[in-house]
Amino acid sequence: MLILNKTAGVFFKPSRRKIYEFLGSFHFHPGKLFLHKLVLGIETSCDDTAAAVVDEAGNVLGEAIHSQTEVHLKTGGIIPPVAQQLHRENIQRIVQEALSASEVSPSELSAIATTIKPGLALSLGVGLSFSLQLVDQFKKPFIPIHHMEAHALTIRLTNKVEFPFLVLLISGGHCLLALVRGVSDFLLLGKSLDIAPGDMLDKVARRLSLIKHPECSTMSGGKAIEHLAKQGNRLHFDFQPPMQRAKNCDFSFSGLQHVIDKMIMQKEKEEGVEQGQILSSAADIAAAVQHTVACHIAKRTHRAILFCMQRGLLQPSSAVLVVSGGVASNLYIRKALEIVTNATQCTLLCPPARLCTDNGIMIAWNGVERLRAGLGILHNTEGIRYEPKYVGVQLKPSIGQYAKHVKKSRNLRPKLFTEEEQRKRVGSKASPATSNEGT
Ligand code: KG4
Ligand code: ZN
Repeated sequence: MLILNKTAGVFFKPSRRKIYEFLGSFHFHPGKLFLHKLVLGIETSCDDTAAAVVDEAGNVLGEAIHSQTEVHLKTGGIIPPVAQQLHRENIQRIVQEALSASEVSPSELSAIATTIKPGLALSLGVGLSFSLQLVDQFKKPFIPIHHMEAHALTIRLTNKVEFPFLVLLISGGHCLLALVRGVSDFLLLGKSLDIAPGDMLDKVARRLSLIKHPECSTMSGGKAIEHLAKQGNRLHFDFQPPMQRAKNCDFSFSGLQHVIDKMIMQKEKEEGVEQGQILSSAADIAAAVQHTVACHIAKRTHRAILFCMQRGLLQPSSAVLVVSGGVASNLYIRKALEIVTNATQCTLLCPPARLCTDNGIMIAWNGVERLRAGLGILHNTEGIRYEPKYVGVQLKPSIGQYAKHVKKSRNLRPKLFTEEEQRKRVGSKASPATSNEGT
């Protein structure tokens, strides 16, 4: 065996002792060299059983996921004991698959990171108890993960993004706007006062019976709405964006859902259609719902960007808005956000679709971030519990109410509609494009 001696610049045949020293300086396994720390991430907070191995440099060495979406679509929503049972049936296989794909054995891991909050209690419990067994068996450090923190930090795996940045998390279970100042330093700017946008879209899709639509039967509610919306005309319905008068960065979706429910009931009467059958106007309703949700999300985000810029929390020259969560894969909503970021000279970044939804990679990466920062690495897991409704110390009370003082100079006002669309809007007096009240 020849080793290049850099100092002398010559090849030499080293002694056996030198070879052992050389090998000992690496984390060595026959056939493999791991120069970086390795983290196994495990996610079971809702309806996905997911695991991944990510190294310190952000290389995804292996991943596996089992989605329960199909089962929950059939039952019309997530039934927690069913989700728990499916996690139990799949967790061992999924973790094994992630490890095998990465060609890493548990003994080679630097740490195990697992979502412990927030989420469904029964689902979180499966991931946590499985992880603690592994931690105990292989004597590894344990890194408890906050699911939102993981969503927010995912972008740093795919893009070079420095702190601070603004994050908008929109999915079936989450809806929040926060300023990310460090790995575990979040300033909450706004959140949904009731349900999350994905939850609302799922409920509307169920009410429209889109599962019976031949093109949408295997899609999540939000995806089905996006798909149908492309065939519809949103101008046939006029739903007002929620919270027009509330000058903060919070969100609300249940009032809008109620209005849409009433509209669907009225349409069923008009069309002589029984509940459970598909309305001929379903695509138009989907388009109008998607548009209203996009406007609401874009307006609150606009306010948050202006607030951060005016308070010096974000520098206009380097401001970044990261959008993640299942709903972030909606291209119409992204377009609305792009209009806002263009108007405010902010950079819009979204992780790739598979990293927007729940996955094991984001949990492993959050573990890497915490390992690098030396934050929350446990060598003793006694007393560790999952926390379904946890809003931790790192998510400080919403400061969105201060956003009422945000000034909107003309050149920072986004136009969410074209002038022509404005004129066509049914019965609308003031429009979000010309009036930024309540954004
Ligand atoms: O992040 P995620 O996988 O799970 C959590 O809720 O945490 O997000 C799932 C949600 C569902 O409500 C689903 O309807 C919604 O994201 N979703 C979409 C789209 N794809 C998934 N919503 C709007 N447009 C989409 N294309
Ligand atoms: Zn999530």
